[in-house]
Amino acid sequence: MRIGILGAGAMADALGTQWARAGHQVMVSGRDTDRAGALAARIGSGARAGTFAEAVAFGEDAVLLAIRHDGVSDVLAAAGAGEGALRGRTLIDCVNAVVWESFTLASSAPMAERIAAAAPGAHVVKAFNVCHADVWRMTPPVFDGAPLAVPLCGDDPGALDTVRALVTDLGCVPLPGGGLERAGLLEATAAFAIGLWLGHGADARAMLPPLTHP
Ligand SMILES: NC(=O)c1ccc[n+]([C@@H]2O[C@H](COP(=O)([O-])OP(=O)(O)OC[C@H]3O[C@@H](n4cnc5c(N)ncnc54)[C@H](OP(=O)(O)O)[C@@H]3O)[C@@H](O)[C@H]2O)c1
Repeated sequence: MRIGILGAGAMADALGTQWARAGHQVMVSGRDTDRAGALAARIGSGARAGTFAEAVAFGEDAVLLAIRHDGVSDVLAAAGAGEGALRGRTLIDCVNAVVWESFTLASSAPMAERIAAAAPGAHVVKAFNVCHADVWRMTPPVFDGAPLAVPLCGDDPGALDTVRALVTDLGCVPLPGGGLERAGLLEATAAFAIGLWLGHGADARAMLPPLTHP
C-alpha cells in the first residue's frame, strides 16, 4: 500500500516504522520539514518526507492523521481537506483530545466526527487511539500470550478492510467497533483507560471479566 502520514511525532514514528517493515510505501509529513525528513531516514525502507498536501497525494491507499488534537483543523486545512483532497481516501484517525489534568475529553463533539466534517468525502476510520505509541512499536504487541485487539469504528467497508489489513500487519487482531457514530465511545474509552493508567497507576485491563464470565 501507499500510506501518507500527517505528522512526524511518536505515532507517525511507531506506525510508520511497522508499516514500512511490512513492505508498505510510507510518506511522513510535518510543518517542520527537517523533523519529517529525520523521521523518514529513521524509518528507512525507502520512506519519504513531504508536506501535508504531498502526504495526502501520496497516500492513495490510506492516510494516517497523527497530529495533536489542537493542530488537527490547521493540518487538515493545509492538506487541502476542505477542497476535497481526501475525498475517497481511507483516513485513519488515532487522535485523542484528552485534557491531561482531568483525563476528560476537550470537546463533547467526537474528534472523529469533527475530522469527517473537515475532510468531506474521506472514509474516516477511528483506530490505534487506545494504546501508547510504545505498544505500537512492539513486534508484535502480544500480552499474556494473546495478540492485542484493535477496535475500529468506521462506515466504509473498503476503508475498514484496509485498516483491518494494517492492524494485522502489526501482529494485532482487528475488533469490530461499529460505525463512525460510535467513534466517540472509543475516544472516551481511551481517556478513561489513560486516567486509570496515569492517574491511579491502575490496570485498565483488570476492570472487565473474560468473555466466558459475562
Ligand atoms: N503518543 C501516544 O502514545 C499516542 C497514542 C494514541 C494516540 N495518540 C494520538 O496520536 C496523535 C499524535 O500523537 P503523537 O504522540 O505522535 O504526538 P507528537 O509526538 O507530539 O507529534 C504530534 C505531531 O503533530 C504535530 N503538531 C502538533 N501541533 C500542531 C499544530 N498546531 N499544527 C501542525 N502540526 C502540529 C507535530 O508537529 P511538530 O513536530 O512541528 O510539533 C507532530 O508532527 C495525537 O492526537 C494523540 O492524541 C498518541
